[in-house]
Amino acid sequence: MLRESRLGYPDLGFGVGLRSVHFQHILRESPAVDWFEVISENFLDSQGRPRYVLEQIAERYPIVMHGVSLSIGSTDPLDLAYLHKLKRLAEWTQARWISDHLCWTGVAGRNTHDLLPIPLNEETLAHVVARLRIVQDVLERPFVLENPSSYVTFADSTLSEWEFLTRMAEDADCGLLLDVNNIYVSSINHDFDPREYIDAVPHRRIVQFHLAGHTNCGTHCIDTHDGPVIDPVWELYAHARRQTGPVSTLLEWDAAIPEFSVVHAEVLKARRYLTPTAGPESTESVRPNVPLHAPGALVPQRELPAIAAVTAVDRPLAVSNPVSFLVAAAE
Ligand SMILES: [Fe+2]
Repeated sequence: MLRESRLGYPDLGFGVGLRSVHFQHILRESPAVDWFEVISENFLDSQGRPRYVLEQIAERYPIVMHGVSLSIGSTDPLDLAYLHKLKRLAEWTQARWISDHLCWTGVAGRNTHDLLPIPLNEETLAHVVARLRIVQDVLERPFVLENPSSYVTFADSTLSEWEFLTRMAEDADCGLLLDVNNIYVSSINHDFDPREYIDAVPHRRIVQFHLAGHTNCGTHCIDTHDGPVIDPVWELYAHARRQTGPVSTLLEWDAAIPEFSVVHAEVLKARRYLTPTAGPESTESVRPNVPLHAPGALVPQRELPAIAAVTAVDRPLAVSNPVSFLVAAAE
């Protein structure tokens, strides 16, 4: 039932974003992490050691590919050469799915290496949906789009971000990667209720969560991925999981990265937020419910600690302080 409601996407459990600083540790220790998300661009054109490491890890763990260059919102033509590289890498790693962001990253062939926001209106919705259909036709496998964090809004926007995501996912028939930290960051920067956002998006299309830390600058928040997840974001995650049931959950940590055990322990905190009274969570297994693709490959099993009941705290999450300048975003 839940598999069907997740569009066929499996619940992989609790994963960690693969970062090169942890390569040696992972190969040596085979830590008991459920799955890894890899940044697609780090492996598209690489050979040698990065490819060797990815091959080793893909033999031991489920892999999901997360991209930063699709530029689905750009007016440039879709980069078909890039899409075909993605497709080949996904076939090679047997990636469970491929994701990217609702954003644009460049125009006229120039890549800004930033995840830039788009105006949210009927014209951009039709543009993104049409391109998503092409992307999925080319990739011939599940595709998932993530809500970005943002620091500006547009006078031309006529839809809320959650309205846009809902219609986009339904019209393009794609999955959603809900980054709960991004929702929180944007809710501070643009003064909206993050729970209204979470309540409104189509839960059956959410196939992955992202969690991360951010930097609160007092007047605004920046999505820096440089620390642990703060309590209000955990509470939003719990709020979302009560509505979605089991969904693959991934922690991103991209700056001031600590040793692997610290990053892994951070994502496992998510278990504390899966309460017995949380509806669909009550029967959840945190183990991946799909077999590893490589015969004989083994993810070490582990005992699970008792799940602590956590009471979600109702508190105002948004402040009235829309930001009117652009900041480079880490995603
Ligand atoms: Fe994210």
